[in-house]
Amino acid sequence: MDKISCVILAAGEGTRFKWATGKPLAPILGKRLVDFPLNSIFCFLEEKKLKGAITLVVGHKRQELEDYITASYEKKPNFVVQKEQNGTADALRSYFDGFDKSSNFEYTLVMAADTPLIRQNDLAALFSEIETKKLDAICATFQANNPTGYGRVVRGNKGFKIVEHKDADEKIRAITEVNSGLYIFKTEFLKKHLSGVENKNKSGEFYLTDLFQENFNVTPFLFEKSETFFGVNTLEQLEYVSRVIREEKIGSLRDSGVFFVDSKTNYIDWDVEIGKGTQIGPFACVKGKTKIASNCLIDHSSIVINSILHERASVHPFSHLEEVTLGKSAGVGPYARLRPGALIGPKSKIGNFVEIKKAKLDAGVKVSHLSYVGDAEIGENSNIGCGFITCNYDGAKKHLTKIGKNCFIGSDSQMIAPVELGDNCYVASGSTINKSMENDSFAIARARQVTKEGMAKRFMKKKD
Ligand code: UD1
Ligand code: MG
Repeated sequence: MDKISCVILAAGEGTRFKWATGKPLAPILGKRLVDFPLNSIFCFLEEKKLKGAITLVVGHKRQELEDYITASYEKKPNFVVQKEQNGTADALRSYFDGFDKSSNFEYTLVMAADTPLIRQNDLAALFSEIETKKLDAICATFQANNPTGYGRVVRGNKGFKIVEHKDADEKIRAITEVNSGLYIFKTEFLKKHLSGVENKNKSGEFYLTDLFQENFNVTPFLFEKSETFFGVNTLEQLEYVSRVIREEKIGSLRDSGVFFVDSKTNYIDWDVEIGKGTQIGPFACVKGKTKIASNCLIDHSSIVINSILHERASVHPFSHLEEVTLGKSAGVGPYARLRPGALIGPKSKIGNFVEIKKAKLDAGVKVSHLSYVGDAEIGENSNIGCGFITCNYDGAKKHLTKIGKNCFIGSDSQMIAPVELGDNCYVASGSTINKSMENDSFAIARARQVTKEGMAKRFMKKKD
């Protein structure tokens, strides 16, 4: 028999949550709401080395949810469908009906999809309690400042019961210890009592909370930090938990040696990795699966998305990078835009108002000012002057520009692709190059200058 089966309840409609994709897929730090309980469970099973399974009970907007999870996870959880959302006990019945191995686990953990602040150590604490005290079931509870809406915990001599807000009288409503919606059951106990749950209550729903009774071997486990169980029912609450999780993420990066100049202004996504000694300037934003090595700089108001930065790379203020790789000690910006497929070699320099797309620049290349480099390869130590343009698009297709190493491309030059320059080439300023060049060649491709002495005054407006 395996140790624990973990069930995430995600079938509910979330009527107060007005978001097109449904609540479990609401965005938080580049992830979705449902990723947080899932991740906490994965980490809990892994850290405690427990043999377990993970199942999502889905219903409302289930296809989008299943598609997202199937595409995002290597180790895929199971899905079971709850056809009608008749309450949390009904959701668990769907789970037992829909997951054929559900009886093969000693314990069953149940949590909701909309409580993203619960972490693996919280799950571990609850699990350790049910195991050591040999209980049939345990429920995580907390003291709520405003208990309205929550199930109230009514402690008895042995067990306890939970009374839902709607069904509670004034005396019970005054209780501030509430049910968090996180439970662990002995699977046998859960199966035995689930069938007996009725829906004789104000909501007409089958309540999972009816499994807790005063004469049962069950207990509430009061967590000190109530914030852990903060639930997301509205877009305002989503914004609030995003802020909490953002602080958690930034805190853990800071603990590992990342310096934030003013972290209140930064947005760092959950999957971002940043090495020790890196500095993040005010208003910088690092998103997606970006990996930043140690001793890098992401300066003021720059945005870095799904990119890889090697050691000592710098992104100067107001730059925008997406799906980009920066080599060791490469420098970008200020005001640079690097689009998908920009591979910038070690010690290369990309200056202000430069746009780079799908281009591989080898080590030590300089593109310092006001240029567009798209669909190109540039060899090491080549210098690209100001106002350079790869004319990569002929209106139908994109073409490649290749420039060898140690080339010097004068300012205001264009390369009409496809075109290829060998190594050590020199292009005079203002040239439009549409023919390939052998190694060591010089090209000048501009109209000759005509100078007529004394003729300027014909073109000057006479002053009165
Ligand atoms: C539930 C608890 C309440 C607790 C509160 C904590 C019950 C009866 N009540 O109330 O004691 O204080 O959580 O937040 O359990 N779901 C399904 N199928 C359903 C109904 C719900 O999958 O038929 C899922 C929802 O998607 C959600 C979770 O179960 O993830 C909780 O359901 P919800 O309706 O939010 O219960 P609450 O009224 O908040
Ligand atoms: Mg709820």
